[in-house]
Amino acid sequence: MTNPQDLLKLAVDVAEEAARLIVERRRGRITVADTKSTVTDIVTAVDRESEELIRARVLAARPDDSFLGEEGDDVLGTSGVRWVVDPIDGTVNYLYDHPTYAVSIAVEVDGTTVAGVVVDAPKGEVFTATLGGGAYLDGRPIQASDCAELSKALVGTGFGYDPVRRKVQAEVVQHLIAEIRDIRRIGVGAIDLCYVACGRLDAVYERGLNPWDYGAGALIAAEAGATIGGLHGAPVSPEMSIAAAPGVFAAFHDLLAAADPLRA
Ligand code: IPD
Ligand code: CA
Ligand code: CA
Repeated sequence: MTNPQDLLKLAVDVAEEAARLIVERRRGRITVADTKSTVTDIVTAVDRESEELIRARVLAARPDDSFLGEEGDDVLGTSGVRWVVDPIDGTVNYLYDHPTYAVSIAVEVDGTTVAGVVVDAPKGEVFTATLGGGAYLDGRPIQASDCAELSKALVGTGFGYDPVRRKVQAEVVQHLIAEIRDIRRIGVGAIDLCYVACGRLDAVYERGLNPWDYGAGALIAAEAGATIGGLHGAPVSPEMSIAAAPGVFAAFHDLLAAADPLRA
C-alpha cells in the first residue's frame, strides 16, 4: 500500500513515539557516545536508540520497505517505498538542552517524497505534509509568508561540521547580512524548513544538508507554498538547499549565488 495519507499516519505515529522517547531520555544525563566526520559532529546513545525504535516500528508494519537513517545501516527493500529518517535533528541543541530538536521522517515512493513529518520534540509541534495535499502544523493548514522584499526577509541558515566549509559559510553570511532583515541559526535543518512553511522565517538556505535533514521539511515547505530549489535551477540536494517565500525566492537566490557559496 502506497497511499500517502496511510504512509503519513504511520510516519506521524512513529515520529511522535520517538519524540516522546528523546524528551524522556533528556531528563537524564546526555553524553557524547561518538564523533563522526569531525570532533564537533557528534552522536549520542539516544540518537541511536531513537533510530532503532523508528526502524523497528516501520519495518514491523511494512517489512518490504527500504530504510535510510542517519545513524544505522541502510535497508534495501522491494516495495518501492523508502523511509528517510533523522532520529534527532539538532543533536548539539539536544546535548546542551536547547529546547529545539526534532524527529524527521520522509517517505518516498519510487524516489519521490510523498509524505513527511517533523516533530519538534520539546515543544510537541507536529509539522506534516503529503504531496499535493498541503502542509499543516498540529493539523491546521500553514503557508509561507508574503514577504516580497529582501531587506525585510528573516533568513535561517546552518553551518556544517567541516571547519574549512564553516569559514566559507561565515563569509557567505557576511555577504548577506546587510541586505536582509537578520539571520537565525536555530540549529535544526528540518525545523528551519518548517519555519519557512509557517512564516516564522522568510527564507532558509544551507550547504551540506543530507536527505534525512531536508526530506520531510522540503516537502512541508513546498506544500505550504514556499519555493524550494538549489542554485541556478538545480533541485534541493546536499550541494545546496534553499526554501523561501515565493515573493522573495528569486532575489534571495541571486544574492546567495553572488556570494559563491559552493567554493568549499
Ligand atoms: C544538523 C542540523 C543543523 C545543520 C547541520 C546538520 P544533526 O543535523 O540540522 O541545523 O546546520 O548541517 O547536520 O547533526 O543535528 O542531525
Ligand atoms: Ca540532521
Ligand atoms: Ca541527526
